[in-house]
Parts: sequence; structure tokens; C-alpha cells
Amino acid sequence: MPGLVIYGGKVDPVLVLAIETSCDETSASVLRTAAQERGHVPEVHVPLPDSGTDLGTCPSGTCPPSSRLATAPEVLSNIVLSQDEVHAPYGGVVPELASRQHIKTIAAIVGEALTRAGVALEGIDLYAVTQGPGLIGSLLIGLSFAKGLAYYHKKPLTGIDHLEAHLEACFVENPGIEYPVLGLLVSGGHTALYFMEEPLSYNLLGKTRDDAAGEALDKIAKFLGLGYPGGPVIEKLARGGDPKAFPFAVPRTKDRSLDFSFSGLKTAALKHIREHGIVKDGARLFDFLASFEDVIARALVDNLRLAADAVQPRSLVLCGGVARNTRLRTRFQDFARAAGLDAYVPSPKMCTDNAAMVGALALKKFARCPDAVTDLDLDAYARS
Ligand code: KG4
Ligand code: ZN
Repeated sequence: MPGLVIYGGKVDPVLVLAIETSCDETSASVLRTAAQERGHVPEVHVPLPDSGTDLGTCPSGTCPPSSRLATAPEVLSNIVLSQDEVHAPYGGVVPELASRQHIKTIAAIVGEALTRAGVALEGIDLYAVTQGPGLIGSLLIGLSFAKGLAYYHKKPLTGIDHLEAHLEACFVENPGIEYPVLGLLVSGGHTALYFMEEPLSYNLLGKTRDDAAGEALDKIAKFLGLGYPGGPVIEKLARGGDPKAFPFAVPRTKDRSLDFSFSGLKTAALKHIREHGIVKDGARLFDFLASFEDVIARALVDNLRLAADAVQPRSLVLCGGVARNTRLRTRFQDFARAAGLDAYVPSPKMCTDNAAMVGALALKKFARCPDAVTDLDLDAYARS
């Protein structure tokens, strides 16, 4: 194979430094392989530019059975710096400001992750970085920083898909989740259903055709002048409201597919706002927000139910920033209980963007495929 062998042999344990900058959080994390996986580090070839080798393929074809992967790494540090204050005045993420902020803070965040973990850069065996989807300028900051570290320290680098990393967040805290798994990913930029028959297999069953669920919450909060990000503000204010007060219809795609659609709901919400004079400090605000939040949760769980009927999973997982929402978590758990399925939701910190989920997935990929090839030529992608 053309390329330069720069890493190989045995190290115990394996330490990964992961970086996540796909949107408006700058995050770095150091993780260590679980005890069962130690003593085994892949020999990694870093191809020279233009060698055309795929990232993450398993040239030897010796991937182990899924049982080998049922261990979770130790998260030694997981530093997340939110840019909420930077974007709040605009009511949403301003891409140019996001990348400038990442540039300013990334070195300090990586340094803090190493300090908290008690690890020096020389001790890192693997680098992992979010490759996409996300804001292209933001992704490039993390990717370039990680490439620089990997190149200088002559260690492998792996690009990680942000959506797969969100799903992985569930497994970091619950490594024994039984397959097949049906995953509902609900974030600010994405709403999707995945069927995972085994570890590292992702079969997209449905996704949003327009707005993501988090985006709908953020947009309505912005319209009412409630602040950014909208999800947490709406959740707080909706606590005192009646979720049945406003008669929202649960959105369904006309062809009854497993796709989602939230733009009609947003239009219906704007109509209620106009007709009922809903304003920031008005009397009916809490009821309105509770009803809006509840219909989003119902729409998400309705599609989950359809998907579960279709694919008959053993377990359900819920992930992404909106998975922090108590009403959604409750509806998700209630459905799982009624269906007799195991259900998992990450802790709140692991729901929103963070680098630990990126590092955990990188370690799992390397455990699965010891000959994984990494490529310093890897590029960021805005869309999947
Ligand atoms: O996964 P994430 O951190 O970033 C993306 O990949 O998009 O998700 C951010 C989204 C935002 O839309 C935010 O409003 C929403 O998650 N969110 C919430 C809550 N906390 C964050 N939505 C509802 N309830 C919450 N408690
Ligand atoms: Zn995310």
C-alpha cells in the first residue's frame, strides 16, 4: 500500500484526544480504552496525499463480532465551551462568528482537556475529529487543528461523522445496549431515525424534510424574543403551562413515510401567535409554549412508534440536544415501556455537542478494525 507507516506496535492503554467544532460548541475530550480492549493498538498507515485510500475501511476484512465492542471507554475529560453568549443577540448561530470563536478558543480548550485528564500530548495515541455534517467554517477549524497535532506528533487521525457520534453518546454511558437498536436523533440541525443492526452500522430510516425539531423550537423562541438557544428557554417557561391548551395537529408526511416535517407546525404556531396575541410576557405564553413543545414530542415519538413496528428493534436510544427535553424524554420512556423495549437516553451533558462522543466512536472504530487507514487529506463536509 502506498503511504507512510507512522504508528504501530502495542501500547497499553490507548488514549484518544477528540475535538468537536461542528457548530457553536468548542469541545475537546481525552478518553482511555476500557480495560478489555487494552494491549491492542492498530498499526495505522497514513497515506501520502492523493493516494486515494478510503478512511475507515478495513483492508484485512477481519472485523471482530459485535460482542468485542460491548465496552465503554473511560472519559478522562470532556471540556465544552458554548458560544451561546456570542450568538444570543442574533437569535441563532451566525456561522462566521462561530468559526472566529472556535479559532480563539480551540487551543485553550484542548489544553484544558489534557490538563484535566492529566495527560501530555506525547501520551496521545490517536486523534479524532468531527468531519461533518455541520458549519463548514467551524468544522475546518477543528479539522485543521487536529491534523496539525496528528502530523506533528506522527499519530493517526480519524474523521468522525457528527450524527453517528450523537448516537454513540448513548453507548458511552450504556455499553451493553442490545442490538438491533432503533435510534432517534433530535438536534438543532438534524432530526432522523436510524436502525442499527449491529455496532457501527447505521441505516437511515427517515429524516426531516425541512426544519429540524430543535430548529423549530429555536425559531419560535426567536420570533417571541425569548433568547437563544430556544429549546431550553421554552422548556423552562412551558413547565407552568397546559400542553392541551392549544390544539396543534401532529404533523405527518402525506406519504406516511418515516420522514419528519416541522415547517407546517412552525406556520401553525405563528398563526396561533397572531390570532391569540401571544407575546413574551403575555398571560397565555406558558400554555402556548407547553402545547408547542408537546406536539413536537408527540410527532417525534409517533414516528419512532411507526419505525419500531417496521423494524422490531430490541432497544431504543434517544440522542441529540433536544433529547435533554424532559417532556420528550418522558414520552420516549412511556412509549418504550408500553412496547416492552429497553430505552436509553444519555445524560444531559452527553446529549448536546461534546467531544467525548466523538472520541468514543473513534475508539470503537479502531477496536473494530485494527488496520483502519487514516488520511491527513481528509476533508470536512457540511451535509451528509
Ligand atoms: O445536538 P446539539 O447540541 O447541536 C446540534 O448538533 O444541532 O443540539 C442543539 C439543539 C438546539 O436546537 C437547542 O435549542 C436544543 O438542542 N436543546 C433543547 C434543550 N436543550 C437544547 N431543546 C429542548 N429542550 C432542551 N432542554
Ligand atoms: Zn450535534
